[in-house]
Amino acid sequence: MRAELLIFFRKLYCFRNLCVVTVISAKFFTMLYNDIIKLYQKFMKLIEWSEELSVNVKEIDDQHKLFVGLMDKLYGAITSNQATVLLDGIIDELVQYTIFHFSTEEKYFNQFNYEHADEHKIAHSALLAGVENFKKEKNDNKNELAMKILDFMENWLVEHLEIHDKQYTKCFNEHGLY
Ligand SMILES: [Fe+2]
Ligand SMILES: [Fe+2]
Repeated sequence: MRAELLIFFRKLYCFRNLCVVTVISAKFFTMLYNDIIKLYQKFMKLIEWSEELSVNVKEIDDQHKLFVGLMDKLYGAITSNQATVLLDGIIDELVQYTIFHFSTEEKYFNQFNYEHADEHKIAHSALLAGVENFKKEKNDNKNELAMKILDFMENWLVEHLEIHDKQYTKCFNEHGLY
């Protein structure tokens, strides 16, 4: 009986050691994971401005850089778990940016009688409606909404800036706007 008790307590001791090792390992891997994430955030940005995004008009490029900066801010809020706190402000900034930026492009469409103005303005209206809609979703789950907006902005960059916006370069440049 005594020998059995001894074996039982020895097994219990081994089990306890195993638990301690598991907890320490879990803590170690959590620390390692957090360090990797911090390094990733430090060196990896979602997107950075490059000349490939240029429409060869300084005023417009400067505004597009603000857009990329806003995307980066949103990405930073998501990866640092700050979306709950920062998202409302980012949505307000995005709405203001959209109105201001589209009015700049459309001012030049009118001024230069740009041939693709109508279809470009329709694309602007759709984007503005999308952005305005995010204001109505402010009470939804912030993390999900943040991801949804980031996705929206990525599409905007790829489908609008890189295709529609680059189409007006020739017209704007021909009218002396660089
Ligand atoms: Fe644009
Ligand atoms: Fe545009």
